[in-house]
Amino acid sequence: MGEKITLSVIKADVGGYVGHSDVHPALLHKAEERLKEAKANGLLIDFCRSKVGDDIALIMTHKHGVDSVDIHRFAWETFEKVTEVAKEYGQYAAGQDLLSDAFSGNVKGMGPGVAEMEIEERVSEPVLVFLADKTEPGAWNYALYKIFADPFNTAGLVIDPSMHGGFDFEVHDLFEKRKIIFSCPDEIYDLLVFIGAPSRFVIKHIFRRSDNEIGAVTSTQRLSLIAGKYVGKDDPVMVVRAQSGLPAVGEVLEPFSFPYTVAGWMRGSHHGPLMPVSLKEDTPSRFDGPPRVVCHGFQLKDGRLIGPRDMFRDPSFDKSRQMALEAADYMRRHGPFEPHRLPLEDMEYTTMPAIMEKVKSRFKVGVD
Ligand code: F6R
Ligand code: MG
Ligand code: MG
Repeated sequence: MGEKITLSVIKADVGGYVGHSDVHPALLHKAEERLKEAKANGLLIDFCRSKVGDDIALIMTHKHGVDSVDIHRFAWETFEKVTEVAKEYGQYAAGQDLLSDAFSGNVKGMGPGVAEMEIEERVSEPVLVFLADKTEPGAWNYALYKIFADPFNTAGLVIDPSMHGGFDFEVHDLFEKRKIIFSCPDEIYDLLVFIGAPSRFVIKHIFRRSDNEIGAVTSTQRLSLIAGKYVGKDDPVMVVRAQSGLPAVGEVLEPFSFPYTVAGWMRGSHHGPLMPVSLKEDTPSRFDGPPRVVCHGFQLKDGRLIGPRDMFRDPSFDKSRQMALEAADYMRRHGPFEPHRLPLEDMEYTTMPAIMEKVKSRFKVGVD
């Protein structure tokens, strides 16, 4: 076992190129410049500047622990500086995810998405960093259940003695701001009642039951719940540790062989397939989608991020991509009808209150 290091992934959409589809290289350049400075002055051990769709992700290792004011301030100020470039280049919705004018100690609740874990680095430490665009934090629920609780996905749950004891799932209720732990496999039926409603109940952390070792962390920010109105989709991130008593890399990737349905897509108001793509195919275009996920593989060594490897750049995910395209066609043909369009309460955009107000007097009440 090595020293404790923290892996922080902080992401934000601070301007799209073109519309909400991509990030202009000038913005990425500014983010990279800031990260290099932070590594040079010792704040960070290492970094990987990444992106998915219109979101920039700062993947960072350091020794300051989770919720570090210094790290969060650095990320916030980086996104502010990148926003200046976005404004200079007339990028779309510049500064979109910076919901506050001033930093107050932690970027949580201020717009950017955050997933962090402090770990004692193992002799060899494979980690997978997933970034998704055009969807919501609950989008990871299905995959995390498969990875850490479903023996049909993860053979190790059955045949690896160090995983056989199962995992604890920490679930957050985003509406009531409370959390609960379900111990699996004993409580999988109870867990599923909640995480099957991913717009409200989101898996935040997963721990191995035998020793409480952390296996996964996700971002749980919902911008609309923070801002009280539509301000862009949340586009979540997730970090999963793999191997040696945790799910193997291939077990972590396996759920994405099925492009399961998530909420998001156009105007954050439609269901669509979550398509696994390579880092070069991360730009949602058709109907602002379909929602997509990229995965970076790293080996950590003394906090250095050795990588990334582009984990979905593999023909074994072609079929999932093909299935996603077919599902996208099928869903699109529903146009403005549910279940393609989200139910009224989950839509990020709606004209319903205004139209209801306009036609209210024409409703005849007391109809059987
Ligand atoms: C979805 C998303 C886009 C926008 C859409 C309309 O998360 O970001 O689908 O909602 O392009 O954008 P506005 O309202 O900015 O014209
Ligand atoms: Mg955007
Ligand atoms: Mg986005």
